[in-house]
Amino acid sequence: MFEQLEKHAATARDNLAKATSVDDLENWWRQTLGRKGEVQLLSRGMGELAAADRPAYGKRLNEVKGELEAAFEERKAELKQLELAHKLDAEAIDVTLPGRRPAAGTLHPSTRIMRDMCRIFGDMGFQIYRSPDVVTDRFNFEYLNMPPEHPARDMQDTFYTTDPNVLLRTHTSAGQIMAMREYCPEPIRVVLPGMCYRNEQITARSEIQFHQIEGLAVGRNITFADLKGTLIEFARRYFGADRETRFRASYFPFTEPSAEMDISCMLCAGKGCRVCKKTGWLEILGCGMVHPTVLRYGGYDPEEWSGFAFGSGPERIGMLRYGMTDIRYFWGNDVRFLEQF
Ligand code: DAH
Repeated sequence: MFEQLEKHAATARDNLAKATSVDDLENWWRQTLGRKGEVQLLSRGMGELAAADRPAYGKRLNEVKGELEAAFEERKAELKQLELAHKLDAEAIDVTLPGRRPAAGTLHPSTRIMRDMCRIFGDMGFQIYRSPDVVTDRFNFEYLNMPPEHPARDMQDTFYTTDPNVLLRTHTSAGQIMAMREYCPEPIRVVLPGMCYRNEQITARSEIQFHQIEGLAVGRNITFADLKGTLIEFARRYFGADRETRFRASYFPFTEPSAEMDISCMLCAGKGCRVCKKTGWLEILGCGMVHPTVLRYGGYDPEEWSGFAFGSGPERIGMLRYGMTDIRYFWGNDVRFLEQF
């Protein structure tokens, strides 16, 4: 028994010296000093010894156990040192190497266009006003002077939820009343950026989902001249100072008078080409003086207050600025397109 003990101890020491990794060490511990390890087995064997030999055996066994434990700790420290040295070696940094450029991604073109546009309005004192994508019929239509059965509702094919009174906004104009009710009776100067949804055929020119940036100014003396001044300044800053602009009379139920704004075509410089359909002009937004009914729904007395509003499509506007021919690129998720911005 004593011999066997010494033999086991010697083998264990040998094996320990051979351990070259933390894994090896763990295995060694399990085999040698673990709950079902050799030392444990040897101590169980004590019962076979003559009673007189047992104390001496037990003492030696404890010594061996202590020695092995100490050896284990020592080897562990050694290995740790080795591993550290190894790691430092392997991870040595060559500071003369040129850096690798991380693929950071870029802003989505829509985001980029919207931020550029909002920044220009921001410079003119407009604040960003966030409003929800899902709205009731009232905010999207009724408060905008489109009661049920109003023919203008057909201008936009709407996505409804299972509740016919709750829908995905077809335009950011739906947020106008929310802004008015929040600000009333103070003057307002806000832009409302956001996603809009229309149940339409997807083509190169129209998507079922697209952004709009709505503008709304309400005050005591706001006139059509303010509207024109603001939007002409925007067009010059976004498209360049040499762009001509014009306003054409139009119709929207929520504005009176209403207009659409064009800029001179940048491709043909107004001479007429395929993009501007030979007219020399490109439409960029709808606008007008806020209709008295809408002001009233927003809480403002139209006898004392007036305002202007506009609605623009950043994707459309970006397409003009960057010479894009197909709106579907925006949601196509083709990195070759996305990377160009
Ligand atoms: N909501 C209109 C649309 O989606 C755009 C628009 C036109 C907004 C005139 C306005 C406005 O605020 O005054 O086509």
